[in-house]
Amino acid sequence: MERQYKRTLVTTALPYANGPVHIGHLAGVYVPADIYARYLRLQGRDVTLVGGSDEHGVPITIKARNEGVTPQDIVDRYHKIIKDSFEELGISFDVYSRTTSDIHRATASEFFTRLHDKDQFVEKTSMQLYDEKAGQFLADRYVTGECPHCHNPRAYGDQCEACGTSLNATDLVNPRSAITGEIPVMRETHHWFLPLDRWESKLREWILEGHKEWKTNVYGQCKSWLDLGLQPRAVTRDLDWGVPVPLKEAEGKVLYVWFDAPIGYISNTKEIYPDSWEKWWKDPDTRIINFIGKDNIVFHCIVFPAMLMAYGDNYQLPDNVPANEFLNLEGDKISTSRNWAVWLHEYLRDFPGKQDVLRYVLTANAPETKDNDFTWRDFQTRNNSELVAILGNFVNRVIVLTHKYFDGVVPVAGELADIDRSLFDEVDSIKESLTQNIETFHFREALKDAMNIARAGNKYLQETEPWKVAKTDMSRVATILNTALQICADIAVAFEPFMPFMSRRLADTLHMGKLTWAELASRDIVKAGDSVDTPELLFDKIDDEAIDAQIDRLARIKRENELKNFKPAEVQPATDFETFSRIDVRVGTVISCEKVKKSKKLLRFLIDDGIGQRTILSGIAEHYQPEELIGRQVCFIANFPPRQMMGIDSEGMILSAMNADGSLSVITPSTKVVNGAQVK
Ligand code: MF3
Ligand code: ZN
Repeated sequence: MERQYKRTLVTTALPYANGPVHIGHLAGVYVPADIYARYLRLQGRDVTLVGGSDEHGVPITIKARNEGVTPQDIVDRYHKIIKDSFEELGISFDVYSRTTSDIHRATASEFFTRLHDKDQFVEKTSMQLYDEKAGQFLADRYVTGECPHCHNPRAYGDQCEACGTSLNATDLVNPRSAITGEIPVMRETHHWFLPLDRWESKLREWILEGHKEWKTNVYGQCKSWLDLGLQPRAVTRDLDWGVPVPLKEAEGKVLYVWFDAPIGYISNTKEIYPDSWEKWWKDPDTRIINFIGKDNIVFHCIVFPAMLMAYGDNYQLPDNVPANEFLNLEGDKISTSRNWAVWLHEYLRDFPGKQDVLRYVLTANAPETKDNDFTWRDFQTRNNSELVAILGNFVNRVIVLTHKYFDGVVPVAGELADIDRSLFDEVDSIKESLTQNIETFHFREALKDAMNIARAGNKYLQETEPWKVAKTDMSRVATILNTALQICADIAVAFEPFMPFMSRRLADTLHMGKLTWAELASRDIVKAGDSVDTPELLFDKIDDEAIDAQIDRLARIKRENELKNFKPAEVQPATDFETFSRIDVRVGTVISCEKVKKSKKLLRFLIDDGIGQRTILSGIAEHYQPEELIGRQVCFIANFPPRQMMGIDSEGMILSAMNADGSLSVITPSTKVVNGAQVK
């Protein structure tokens, strides 16, 4: 831990190019990795931030098939969206490439060849699921069925998303092809397996003995995998999309996506440093940090390290793998297939110029130790009552006062009073905690520390009241504002990793030039006589309208999903016509309709039933405005005995259909009929 490394390679899980990235990806991986890399740069350390799109794997081929385009079309589309939106959010990748690049194919291919030459695989002929109609073997996401552990009926051939267990396609109960819906048959095929069992004791020692400092969620998952005992894992697939297996006898087979993707970290490093990439991977003075989500832990802590050890040649293992838990959205699991997400490219379109707000909220709510929830109300509150009211307000007040009293020039400080010194001391100790928290990947806490600088600044202004002192003692005002301006400069530095856009604007306003971590809390970052630009607000309020639009969008998506997933109820046990014909259903016209006082659900109807008028109560008040039903024809049961509800006699029951989302729709004849007509 205490070791000083010469350089740090920060990697970020390669997102699948089968959809855009969403706030879950950002909070889990890209924002924390960017904070860390930016911090190291401010510290003057040698750092490279590596990313790229993961462009192989089954979900991409399924999406292509559904849209009638090629997998290459799909990955071209999403790689561009992902890359552009990361850039706009300020994720400071030194390289963002893709696994369909030539350099990657060559690197992954060579990696396999070397393992093969070194006898690091075992080969097995086994029975696999095969879809005869599609003429294709089915693995991973190509097959769905019942999970053998938790009996979730929609588990995939690589994983059950309900209980999290990782599966083999042949484990599924009642498997079905995801391509044709057919029941697959078993057919023989040949594959190459990485014998993880050979590396078990090395992995145990490296992780369980050597990395007790890893986050408990990561360490715990590794321990339970290792305690279960490791098995050989297939690293090839019968598929036509991926890196071809570089062996004559492996026609029509490709590398398993989880074999080639992590090698992408290496290929992408080669892409930026064609001549010096090796020192980033093979020099023990390089520290490698992998930022990932919790579903990637086994691949980064067990499988990829085993691949690197099998390769040899001094490849270094990661020093830390700070995996995060998941971020939920408004209480539900984020899902690309259900469109339950806030997509980054849409956020950037809907909230132009507000990159930092999203970065701030996602860090403040980062799922570091447990799953967390993103809500639009919380987003609004954090913007309005933290960024605007605390941070923006402090900086703005200081700069306005500097212009008011000193024409926008940093005044000369006189001798410091106790209150000035104790503010500086407070910032000193905040810096210590902030630094420690970033170094140990506690970014939420680190952000709170940074925010505490602004809070301390506000309190200082409140207590020193320079606008009052100005009536009597301008030299004291000079000291106060000089001090407060140092705090503004501290804010520019301390927030750079978290909110780089705000930081740059503030630094420009204060004419600060290149920022360094060393100057944070140094007490004379801005010098007397330096000029300060006129103030512009760092943050604006976000109004209800913008938030309501987002909440409405999600409500619409939720309804669409409920309709899509609607499963009709089981048909009732058999009955006969006799029973049915004893129920007298008739048509009547609504004469009047109003809400029943003190009841949320009930509407009171007066119905013209052709004979006279009758009163009927119906529990549909949450689904209709009473006015819209007046004059409508409805169907009602005419021969129920009257029933009292809320002190009113109800003479019948109005028929409604219940929609997938629980909403009710009143049944109306499709053409006008006479009142009193019977429904047969
Ligand atoms: N595409 C994978 C996912 O989204 C992550 C791949 S990480 C890498 O879960 F290491 F393989 F690159
Ligand atoms: Zn399960």
